[in-house]
Amino acid sequence: MYSSWAIEYRGLEPESDNAILQIRLSGLTAVIIPFNKPFIAGKELYYIAQAVAFGNIAGDGVYTKRCARILEEQFGVHRVLMTPSCTAALEMAAILCEVGPGDEVILPSYTFVSTANAFVLRGAKPVFVDIRPDTLNLDEELIEQAITDRTKVICPVHYAGVGCEMDRIMEIADRHGLLVVEDAAQGVNAFHRGRALGSIGHLGAYSFHETKNYICGEGGALCINDERLVERAEIIRDKGTNRQQFFRGAVDKYTWVDIGSSCVPSEISSAFLYGQLEMLEPISKRRREIFESYAKHLEPLASEGLRLAAINVFPTRRAVCPAQARQRRRRNLAVDRRLWVSQPRAKVRRAPDPEGRVSPRSLGLARDPRLLGQRRLPLAHQPNEREFGHARHTQRSRCAGRRRQPAESQS
Ligand SMILES: Cc1ncc(COP(=O)(O)O)c(C=O)c1O
Repeated sequence: MYSSWAIEYRGLEPESDNAILQIRLSGLTAVIIPFNKPFIAGKELYYIAQAVAFGNIAGDGVYTKRCARILEEQFGVHRVLMTPSCTAALEMAAILCEVGPGDEVILPSYTFVSTANAFVLRGAKPVFVDIRPDTLNLDEELIEQAITDRTKVICPVHYAGVGCEMDRIMEIADRHGLLVVEDAAQGVNAFHRGRALGSIGHLGAYSFHETKNYICGEGGALCINDERLVERAEIIRDKGTNRQQFFRGAVDKYTWVDIGSSCVPSEISSAFLYGQLEMLEPISKRRREIFESYAKHLEPLASEGLRLAAINVFPTRRAVCPAQARQRRRRNLAVDRRLWVSQPRAKVRRAPDPEGRVSPRSLGLARDPRLLGQRRLPLAHQPNEREFGHARHTQRSRCAGRRRQPAESQS
């Protein structure tokens, strides 16, 4: 159909802050704004060279420990264990919550696959609860009606770093004796009513994937706010062995004691990440500038059908002093003891999958029609006037196209 086409990528021009992918089809040029552009703070390569010079590039060396300490101190988390991804942290959380076949986990209907996969891998059933139209986060007022005697965990997701209504969610979880795992993949250094996302639930998970606020290519962290979970978490993270106890001199040799996996990140990744985490505030400031640029340029489209971010005021960050952090940890520990009383298990109810497995298909997941009007916008890339002009043009043509279509073909 098309006589000629060409793709030109202009993303690596050092002098330009802009990365443009141009696709030319039969003389027409489409400009695609990239989803993200990795932000380099400056000292990442220096720290990697240091890690190599220290002679330990496997895991849990100087930089992995430094990263964990920054996260604990800045965000008031009882214990942080660095992981190779947020997915790995969520999978560890699912093991720590002791979910299995017959158990149910409440999740938002709009999230990334890892949130559901982590629990499905343990045999648990994800129960999807609708999201709020304003923040696209789990609707806290719909949670209670989804709780059954098989529910074990609530897993709120802080979409785009905007905090869920955690006070209400914790109160519901407390009343029903449930655990809360915060999927804070997108919420590193984001705060909800003065508390860091990831520091509020019993467990939390961060992502340092290239598309996130702070990056190291692929990376993550498990936040443990309930100290009773720390020892088992260390074992699960280190292939089911008590190697950490061995390093502390608590046992004379290490051995296989539990299920687990390989969830320790390499020092190379941690060294890179340290270069980012020591720049928490400058990176956050730059992202805010980019956000404001989007808000300013896209605001005129709101009246033409583009849904803008519901929250355009950044939640303020309160500095966490060590005393505050200690107080928060105590509050996090003051959970209802009922949590650890095992729930009566009803007969295992399987989703209607021909092979009896729980899968997205067996759950009959449908696309939320409210999301069809959403545009995926880059998070860490500041477009220039031309790119914004292109985005406005595309949005206008899509809106015009939708208006022309008959209602039944829009779903
Ligand atoms: C909400 C959410 N959870 C989990 C993940 C998985 O993170 P990772 O790529 O670090 O495993 C992502 C990544 O996009 C995410 O957005």
